[in-house]
Amino acid sequence: MPWSEEQCRLAFQQPCFAAFGLARGPRLVAYISVYHTSDELEILNLGVIPSERRRGHGRRTLEMALQVARKMGIAKAALEVRAGNHPAISLYESCGFVKTAVRPHYYSDTGEDGLVYVRQISASRGTGV
Ligand SMILES: CC(C)(COP(=O)(O)OP(=O)(O)OC[C@H]1O[C@@H](n2cnc3c(N)ncnc32)[C@H](O)[C@@H]1OP(=O)(O)O)[C@@H](O)C(=O)NCCC(=O)NCCS
Repeated sequence: MPWSEEQCRLAFQQPCFAAFGLARGPRLVAYISVYHTSDELEILNLGVIPSERRRGHGRRTLEMALQVARKMGIAKAALEVRAGNHPAISLYESCGFVKTAVRPHYYSDTGEDGLVYVRQISASRGTGV
């Protein structure tokens, strides 16, 4: 579900919230937002502007966030995706995420299931990537 401006503003006040963007010149083409604890990165949103899709920006943005998490010593990443979101599911599975749970009829607007995906991140706190 898209976040409202107010939800975004409140999220930026949370110390566990972070967002990363991928820019081409002055133009933001992709972003990812996360919550993080000491051992888990929860991916909240990942988006690429429609005109820039299928150019590797989604994969690059996701991998950048995972790389930062790895450097922070975070052990795993988790996310939830709509069962019908085939582009996103394909991206996550090709990046090593494994489906671990199904939340039936999780999305109130369409009744779609929510799929929970998890990926281990090889933690190496303080030793770089
Ligand atoms: C999902 C999304 C972020 C992918 O971004 P992208 O920049 O187009 O993806 P990439 O070019 O990096 O593609 C990486 C992989 O994703 C998968 N993929 C991306 N778009 C796809 C599509 N339309 N159909 C099938 N697979 C697709 C493929 O596995 C692709 O690998 P490949 O190019 O080797 O086949 C983008 O479609 C998007 O912003 N969608 C709307 C927001 C959204 O649904 N976000 C996810 C919320 S959980």
